[in-house]
Amino acid sequence: MIPVFKPLIEKEEIDAAVGALEMGWLGMGKFVNEFENKIKQIIGADDREVIAVGTGTAAIHLALLIAGIGPGDEVITPSFNNVCDFQSILTTGAEVVFCDIDENSLCIDLESAEKLITSKTKAIIAMDYDCVLCEHDKLGELAKKYNLRVIHDASHSFGSKYKGKMVGSFSDITTFSFDPVKTITCIDGGAIVVKSEEEKKILHEMRLVGMMQPADIMYENKRAWTYDVQRVGYRYHMANLHAAIGLSQLEKFDEISRNRFNLCNYYSKKLKNIPEIIIPKTDFQGITPFLYYIRVPAESRDELRNYLYSNGIDTGIHWQPGHWFSLLKNCRKSDLSITNKIGEEILSLPLHSDMSLETVDIIINAIKFFFNKR
Ligand SMILES: Cc1ncc(COP(=O)(O)O)c(C=O)c1O
Repeated sequence: MIPVFKPLIEKEEIDAAVGALEMGWLGMGKFVNEFENKIKQIIGADDREVIAVGTGTAAIHLALLIAGIGPGDEVITPSFNNVCDFQSILTTGAEVVFCDIDENSLCIDLESAEKLITSKTKAIIAMDYDCVLCEHDKLGELAKKYNLRVIHDASHSFGSKYKGKMVGSFSDITTFSFDPVKTITCIDGGAIVVKSEEEKKILHEMRLVGMMQPADIMYENKRAWTYDVQRVGYRYHMANLHAAIGLSQLEKFDEISRNRFNLCNYYSKKLKNIPEIIIPKTDFQGITPFLYYIRVPAESRDELRNYLYSNGIDTGIHWQPGHWFSLLKNCRKSDLSITNKIGEEILSLPLHSDMSLETVDIIINAIKFFFNKR
């Protein structure tokens, strides 16, 4: 079976994990600091602060809190987004408001978002979908016009560039996920990128159940036993073990990025002439792709999935739109016709950092065969 995802876990990651285990300081510690510094270096953001946390979901939750979101507020986000974003909004006590997506990028439709803005709107969460980025300049202008905070969910776009600028270096607040299937994995991990030292200080407390540990002491694999607690906090820190694995992944970042870029270009080159399929509208320049998706006519999507599965090829659906879930069906929303359409057409094909072009050929031939026999 060719899986949709396959993490690139090699000797280096295993050695790094063993090293961290043998060091005996498994929790928040020096590898976390090294991981944060390395992320900062890759995204080239000297004027930003990077805070590593336990998951991408924790990163979004803390990003919303640091943006001041709470009960009575509304946060606009595309319904075509990850359930983690919706749950993070609800966890703050705020309301989720769903906007539509742009049919070309599958990212936030800013006109649809603007129509939903009221006096209760405090923030927008915009995410870069798979291998296409949002219109970040226009998003920034919209946020400025209405005095809104922007949370840029870059879970899919770590290492990508927008108009020559690295993702993470230009948004109000950026979040990353390093979960088991992401381009770079810590097994589980996430990060928040903020602009100010003050926000970093607060986030350091919030990720460690509010404990005000003396500055950077934990980065020396030490902790203080007396400290104050002044704010509500969560157990959201990243652990040394996870950071050690993430650090070895980051060593391979250029190779991972190049391979995924080549694989996606190859997919697009070979699939573009199949009339039933819509491929991502990008040439992948400057992109480190997380997933490769296609759009298939709604009436044949599930049949194609089953056919591929019976031929040893797994596929995924990213995602079912948020307003289709029972929990979220009554949220305030714009017209969501593009979202509804894409929700029925979207299909993720396998993409692994060490996948061969021969494997891509097997997948492409199976897709061609499926449509030819119809
Ligand atoms: C767009 C998006 N946001 C947030 C998350 C949450 O990240 P994590 O799984 O690390 O909690 C994911 C994870 O799949 C995601 O794809």
